[in-house]
Amino acid sequence: MLTNANMRKRDLANIWHPCSQMKDYESVPFIPIKSAKASYLYDFDGNRYLDGISSWWVNLFGHSNPYINEKIKEQLETLEHIIFAGFTHKSAVTLAERLIALTPKKLQKVFFADNGSSAVEIALKMSFQYYKNRGEVRDVFISLENSYHGETMGALAVGDVSLYKEIYGEILIKTHQALSPALVSEDEALVSMETLLVKHQGKVSAVIIEPLVQCAGSMGMYDASYIVKLRILCDRYNVFLIADEVAVGFGRTGTMFACESANVTPDFLCLSKGITGGYLPLSAVLTSDKVYEAFYCDYNEGKSFLDSHSYTGNALACAAANATLDIFENENILEKNLVKIDFIKKELEKFKTLKNVKEVRQRGMIAAVELKGYQAKRRVGLEIYKYALENEVLLRPLGNVVYFMPPYIMSEKEIKKMMDVAYDGIAKLI
Ligand SMILES: Cc1ncc(COP(=O)(O)O)c(C=O)c1O
Repeated sequence: MLTNANMRKRDLANIWHPCSQMKDYESVPFIPIKSAKASYLYDFDGNRYLDGISSWWVNLFGHSNPYINEKIKEQLETLEHIIFAGFTHKSAVTLAERLIALTPKKLQKVFFADNGSSAVEIALKMSFQYYKNRGEVRDVFISLENSYHGETMGALAVGDVSLYKEIYGEILIKTHQALSPALVSEDEALVSMETLLVKHQGKVSAVIIEPLVQCAGSMGMYDASYIVKLRILCDRYNVFLIADEVAVGFGRTGTMFACESANVTPDFLCLSKGITGGYLPLSAVLTSDKVYEAFYCDYNEGKSFLDSHSYTGNALACAAANATLDIFENENILEKNLVKIDFIKKELEKFKTLKNVKEVRQRGMIAAVELKGYQAKRRVGLEIYKYALENEVLLRPLGNVVYFMPPYIMSEKEIKKMMDVAYDGIAKLI
């Protein structure tokens, strides 16, 4: 019979897990999951875990969602995957039409890839090459302190979480970080951005941000007004604005896309994670006809955008994405989420009474509780992680920040259970 113990043993014999110190698994074993349904994951020993982090922020409508399952099965019967250079297919065409219709008018073209980091690389490369195609070399990118854009080299270079970046410092492209509005006042952050734009004037291809929430940066949150003013600065200094909505897109912050709350159109919009409802790897970069046209010429002019990935535009992933958009449309998800957002807000209140809580914050379906009074060495996040698992909840704190990012189908009762367990775990730390 398959058990957690023998699955672990077989796993450890051959697998190196992501974002892990493998030695940690000696004291905090990973959990082999046998199946998942709705908001719950089930292990081989019969335990269950409420997925409070949407399985790394990807799942929107629950695990094994009957509608998405059905649509993937339909796709599977007709076309699983084809090369996307020189060929196309109906699910990708439909998905592109729908993404264009959902986003601001100036976003008119979709470039597909297969993960969030690749979407970021594509936006960086396109913005650099746009200028190069016009005879200008602009080799500077500006991002925000405390930002996270993925783990590939370009994405790491514009990121600023030292845990992931520092070790590779010598081999990353040079970038500059402006102060983050999540950590300093909006005015200070804008002055810092403008100072960099002035200093590197004529050399900057793009500014990249995570609109509203710097998720991997301890769920640092800031207001839409910063994005409005940043758009003005980018226009003033004639640089592109890249909105990395890999984590915050598809309703996470309340609106379909976070930039909507600022009524701002970025020059590049990077989407992934929730795009397939958490089923399959897919990403998309949306941009304007103006950018597209700077690459459109005879092949021998050497201005083509030749970036490619084998699984780009995968048909099963596109079918999952279309099914995800169907659910948004047919079930008024954004409206229904408002009730849950309000419920989470009320449940967050009680955390403020705990002595070891520094701050609580929320943007839509993302909420965070920042703890205080602990040295980094203590790894309180790990203590909360273990406590939550013992109590049937999957939480994965970022350092001293316990956060909630539930699938949208999680019931109020389940949300309450998830937050009560976090509350008890935090209270017990004192
Ligand atoms: C804002 C942001 N950008 C990019 C990425 C990278 O996406 P992926 O893990 O799919 O490469 C992440 C992942 O968490 C993210 O939060």
